[in-house]
Amino acid sequence: MESSNGKKQSKVSYGSHRLKKIESRRFVETQINTKVGNTKLSLLIKKTQAKPELLKKYGIEKYDLHPDYEFPESVRNMIPSNVPEYITPPGKNYIKQIVRALFYFKQCALIGPSGTGKTHIVYFIAELTGLPIWEVNCGLQTSTYDLFGRYIGLGKENWIDGQIISWCRTGGILYLDEANMMKQDIAARLNPILDTRGHIVLTEKDNEVVKRHKYGYVIISMNPFSSEFVGTKPLNAAFRRRMSVWITFDYLSVGKQISPAEIKLIQKRSGLDEDTAARIVRAGAELRRQYQLGDLPYGPSPGDLMNWAILVADGSDPISAAEESIIGTTSDDIEIQETVKRIIKAYFT
Ligand SMILES: Nc1ncnc2c1ncn2[C@@H]1O[C@H](COP(=O)(O)OP(=O)(O)OP(=O)(O)O)[C@@H](O)[C@H]1O
Ligand SMILES: [Mg+2]
Repeated sequence: MESSNGKKQSKVSYGSHRLKKIESRRFVETQINTKVGNTKLSLLIKKTQAKPELLKKYGIEKYDLHPDYEFPESVRNMIPSNVPEYITPPGKNYIKQIVRALFYFKQCALIGPSGTGKTHIVYFIAELTGLPIWEVNCGLQTSTYDLFGRYIGLGKENWIDGQIISWCRTGGILYLDEANMMKQDIAARLNPILDTRGHIVLTEKDNEVVKRHKYGYVIISMNPFSSEFVGTKPLNAAFRRRMSVWITFDYLSVGKQISPAEIKLIQKRSGLDEDTAARIVRAGAELRRQYQLGDLPYGPSPGDLMNWAILVADGSDPISAAEESIIGTTSDDIEIQETVKRIIKAYFT
């Protein structure tokens, strides 16, 4: 996806599985008749809006994140579409928590192990609320040029905005993935924009003060700081203070606690029968339990289980399919792979 200033935006990769896509938005036209002096004016306002039944389902009807504002044509292709439904763990409503946090505080933080659906939910919410996503992966060596902007030739007119400055000017969700891998100099520059000052000073462009758009939201996500997430460090304290709401994510099924919704999800995306899908989820839940105890280096995500299920649905026997997918994903250490295989076998004998 290309943004207006030619920068590469990350692709929405959540539409690629075989699955039921939900159409969450529809186009609404409202005619407004008004009078200026003796002249009658008729205005046609066009806006895409989430379907009311979905807003109701998640309890977010009252939180309109961009009332009376439609994003410019140039960024509309950054509003995700056809994102598969996000399955909420029982007893939780992460979608409402996040949308409400954005409505009142403009920003929130998501924290949880790899594969618990943090990125997925951000895309899902962006589609529901009709917001473009400006995604920055803080773990990659993103330069300050890419984030803030630079001159591409001589002359003042040759300035191009970076991702963060484009977001300031246009609005939408600034999604800072792997925020605890962010370089300190970038975190320090972001601080004024995340607090009540709400602006950033472009020292590289004659100290231009760029104000944060009134519908500019921030979501950061990260894995908990620990040794197995290489590169993570405790989040910069000033940055941490600026996040008003923290939401902790967990797997849908862990150990003996199995989520019927996860079994359905695997079934739907792979076309497998319920019994096999349930075995896959139970095996996955056991691997996650052992991961949380520190006995395995990785716990499989629903996406990993889906890949395994797709191979089984294609005709592979479950153990060979697991070798090609989930066993390799867990580790490349042969001993660990054998342990994972033994755990999995217990569910398929
Ligand atoms: N609750 C869920 N409902 C539907 N799909 C899910 C859910 N949780 C995870 N998935 C799927 O599992 C895979 C991993 O999810 P995602 O990439 O969002 O995880 P993450 O928390 O961002 O991981 P990381 O910390 O590694 O970035 C994706 O294919 C996603 O669609
Ligand atoms: Mg992610």
